[in-house]
Amino acid sequence: MNTDSVISTFVEYFQERGHHRITGSTLLPPPGDSVLFTTSGMHSLVPYLEGRPHPLGSRLVNVQRCLRTTDLEEVGDPTHLTVFEMLGTWSLGDYEGPQSLRWGYELLTEGLGIAPRMMHATVFGGDDRTGLDTASLEVWEELGVPVELTVEDNWWSNGPTGPCGPDSEIFLWTGDAPPRSTPTHDDRWVEVWNHVTMRYRKLDDGSLVPLPQRNVDTGLGLERLVSLLQGKSSVFECDVFAPWRLLVPGLWQLDEPSLRIVCDHLRSAVVVIGDGVRPSNTGRGYVLRRLVRRLLTVVWRDDPTRGLGDLPGDLIQHTLDHFHQDVDPVDVRVVLLDEERRFRRLLERGQRILARPRFQGPLDEEDLHYLHDTHGLPRDLILSLRPEGRGPEALRV
Ligand code: SER
Repeated sequence: MNTDSVISTFVEYFQERGHHRITGSTLLPPPGDSVLFTTSGMHSLVPYLEGRPHPLGSRLVNVQRCLRTTDLEEVGDPTHLTVFEMLGTWSLGDYEGPQSLRWGYELLTEGLGIAPRMMHATVFGGDDRTGLDTASLEVWEELGVPVELTVEDNWWSNGPTGPCGPDSEIFLWTGDAPPRSTPTHDDRWVEVWNHVTMRYRKLDDGSLVPLPQRNVDTGLGLERLVSLLQGKSSVFECDVFAPWRLLVPGLWQLDEPSLRIVCDHLRSAVVVIGDGVRPSNTGRGYVLRRLVRRLLTVVWRDDPTRGLGDLPGDLIQHTLDHFHQDVDPVDVRVVLLDEERRFRRLLERGQRILARPRFQGPLDEEDLHYLHDTHGLPRDLILSLRPEGRGPEALRV
């Protein structure tokens, strides 16, 4: 099954059960949302989760492109991407969590052919404000899926305030040996689908008040699911990355962790540019700038003459097509190349300045401030130019 057929199986399954498809076609959250980028499908739905009637009704389904920088240090492992797609469903005061879990189980097993014994669930175990989620527990027990109870890991919120609630997560087994242990004790259990019973609003003082309606908000990690269905051991091996894995190694020889970071960041940068963001020193543009700088730091590590000018247009086009972005790939390339030039110039200036006798010893805070204020050299760039600070880890977003 390829990515497109998993998307259509998912969307059709929920359409047959009364859900209407909404668009999830931009990384930019709606005005008033405090996050820089959409990190899950519920962003555009906050007013409706809080009670406003949605024009398309109370059952919704979508495919949402998301960007998360909180997981950036984990990109390169088998399951984390910067830009990824989330298949989402919502019940806006309609059906409840148990129905959502039953449909989730049916779709994964009968619709997508996953063996029930490869599944594990987690359920909110209760704390001093909210009790054990017995309704979810009973569904899983009835379906014969093993359950682990947790507290923090099974409470979902969009941020410090706003809609939130207990969730039940579905994990799939990725090990070669038969399934064993539980999700919090064995990371071969990979979380694929989160079902949140969103029925509270968290206030500034941390207290919870009930929302006017009880909602269900689910999010399924598309690339994780597809890579498992395709029998691959990482998201980087599923079909959406196939052209990247085919073409990038021919351009630049990179070890596997570096290849993954470069493919993830380049592909993410293309999508972000495709959504209209341009590199800058603040906000979204800064995230884009840091992605490009991180990937260039990796590409240049073994050979500083390498450059993004060699990047095949096909890779940009493939990504724009996949995300349905009606943007000229030449424009995307121009943005990438401009940013590359700017970074190269900054690095060269940094190297010249750091070669001065004054900066030969260890740098203290005063030096870092001086280099930043007088020469415009960011702290992390300086650290990356120091032998002990080389590598992408020195360029944190
Ligand atoms: N909002 C939840 C999540 O991001 C479910 O979609 O996991």
